Amino acid sequence: MMFSRGELKIVYGWTIGLLVIAVVSYAALPSTSPDRPIRIAFQTVAGKVIFDHHRHLIESGYGLSCGECHHTLSPDEYSQAGSCTECHQLEEGDEDVPKRSDALHQQCIGCHREYGGGPTECAQCHVMQ
Ligand code: HEC
Ligand code: HEC
Ligand code: HEC
Ligand code: HEC
Repeated sequence: MMFSRGELKIVYGWTIGLLVIAVVSYAALPSTSPDRPIRIAFQTVAGKVIFDHHRHLIESGYGLSCGECHHTLSPDEYSQAGSCTECHQLEEGDEDVPKRSDALHQQCIGCHREYGGGPTECAQCHVMQ
């Protein structure tokens, strides 16, 4: 197919316009849908534990704020939330900082006890498979 100069200008114009829209939309996305896990499957020697991260924080779920679990962050730092292993090591080490599995057990079970809901027994969280 052949285009005249005028037609080509229109085609280029549209192509550039659409590209700009695509780039701008892509850049805008992360602020409306932050990158955070939906569900986490922890693999342990005592069986798998399924943690519904999304349900724990949405308003129609349990409505918890990031800082209740990512406990070292203030609200303006929530977008930096990361793994507990950044500070809680896999093996016993610093006696002031519980190791990873103790930190998770204390936090998960502690809140469920306090709340009076959510699993507190081993087999309610650990599924053997
Ligand atoms: C009920 C507790 C809880 C709440 C509330 C919570 N998180 Fe998490 N989040 C966790 C746990 C536990 C992990 C797994 C950490 C690990 O495996 O070391 C995690 C993992 C993450 C990860 C992946 C980190 C990685 O690199 O492995 C991100 C990102 C994250 N959370 C962001 C958020 C944000 C943002 C909020 C608030 C909107 C939030 N979380 C609320 C408990 C929670
Ligand atoms: C930036 C470092 C850092 C990160 C990341 C972190 N913690 Fe901690 N955590 C600490 C330190 C330091 C302590 C000990 C001092 C204190 O109690 O604040 C601690 C203590 C704890 C305690 C014991 C609290 C008490 O009252 O004795 C629990 C439970 C805990 N962390 C759970 C978690 C969980 C679960 C995650 C991941 C979702 C996490 N932490 C992420 C640094 C961190
Ligand atoms: C700060 C509070 C809090 C923390 C921390 C927390 N939970 Fe929960 N969890 C809840 C509440 C509230 C419920 C709902 C209880 C109810 O309505 O009966 C719940 C329910 C659950 C349930 C049953 C229903 C479902 O959503 O699957 C599971 C499983 C669960 N939690 C796993 C975990 C695990 C694993 C962790 C740690 C990684 C954790 N929770 C940490 C508050 C918490
Ligand atoms: C609220 C949910 C929950 C309950 C209740 C629970 N656990 Fe866990 N368990 C976890 C999570 C989350 C981890 C951490 C997985 C990780 O480190 O990635 C874990 C880790 C473990 C590990 C691996 C520890 C390691 O050092 O690697 C063992 C063993 C374990 N749990 C045994 C138990 C026993 C025994 C009970 C009952 C006394 C129990 N758990 C109750 C959620 C739970």
